[in-house]
Amino acid sequence: MNERTSLRIARPDDWHLHLRDGEMLKAVLPYTARHFARAIVMPNLSPPVTTTAMAYAYRERILAALPSAMTFTPLMTLYLTDTTDAGDVRAGAKAGLISAVKLYPAGATTNSAHGVRDIERVHGVLETMAEIGLPLLVHGEVVADDVDIFDREAVFIDTVLFPLRERFPSLKIVLEHVTTYQGVDFVMAADGGTAGTITPHHLILNRNAMLVGGMRPHYFCLPVAKREAHRLALRKAATSGDERFFLGTDSAPHGDGAKQSACGCAGIFNAPVALACLAHVFEEDGALDALERFASLNGPKFYALEPNRDTVMLEKSAAPGPFEAQIDVGTDKVTVFDPGFRLCWRVRS
Ligand code: DOR
Ligand code: ZN
Repeated sequence: MNERTSLRIARPDDWHLHLRDGEMLKAVLPYTARHFARAIVMPNLSPPVTTTAMAYAYRERILAALPSAMTFTPLMTLYLTDTTDAGDVRAGAKAGLISAVKLYPAGATTNSAHGVRDIERVHGVLETMAEIGLPLLVHGEVVADDVDIFDREAVFIDTVLFPLRERFPSLKIVLEHVTTYQGVDFVMAADGGTAGTITPHHLILNRNAMLVGGMRPHYFCLPVAKREAHRLALRKAATSGDERFFLGTDSAPHGDGAKQSACGCAGIFNAPVALACLAHVFEEDGALDALERFASLNGPKFYALEPNRDTVMLEKSAAPGPFEAQIDVGTDKVTVFDPGFRLCWRVRS
């Protein structure tokens, strides 16, 4: 059979994205807007986006940073805290401004200090969300000192997520950036209303890729990449086309200075190459036909939105790239995710 060298799919959306603010926002936004029609924008700014008014202002800043020739729809989220006002959440959702609420366990990751300390305190907000059908997006890691970092997702699923789903059976839940087979199982064990996003990098990296032969700060993100058996479970879930799994790139830019340091921060900037990486992965698994479902159809279905009408063309050439290795952000640089293989797919512009 002839090798497939092109693929046209409905324009994808990114269901988990960090756009930051200010200069960084300006620098990274065009890379997402070039390929994606919409994105669920994470609220972990400093200070975090905790109210509908803040989300409105952030949305305005995103739209102001968008080059005039581009179209892109940011889908805004609220950062859940112990003091989130259910009335504000309801109003934001009703106005069509708020697409989801994000649960960061306090201290789990970048700018999560204001996150939820005790899930019982937010039960009132979760009740409202279940009632109005607003999804809860979950960073699924416990932060207890005595839980090994590689076990934090699995422990969170057992101790927090299963009980949460039992307590709020009609709450729509997205387990974000799934990194374990326990995460895949949690999503598959639901009878509707639960989904999982998967990043391109977790489909490509296991923990050896990050740590063997030298420590690679640009492969460090949270939840951290796990052992190979987990990566294979993610590949299977994503490439199956199962409607409960869809793309969330978790593209999370940090300046190289902050990443390449004695205490380097978590986050992988993959927006420029996310779709090319996915085409490579799906081709490798003989699943190019499922790519559209994963990147363009399953997400809108979960969020009760229409898929995008226009399309993108993915093309494979004999030679890799060209892709930028870094982008400039003011005087700093942000390194672009390097998947570690010859990346011969690209989005035709
Ligand atoms: O690696 C990560 N980076 N994981 C997160 O959950 C947050 C993100 C960031 O904001 O940099
Ligand atoms: Zn994230």
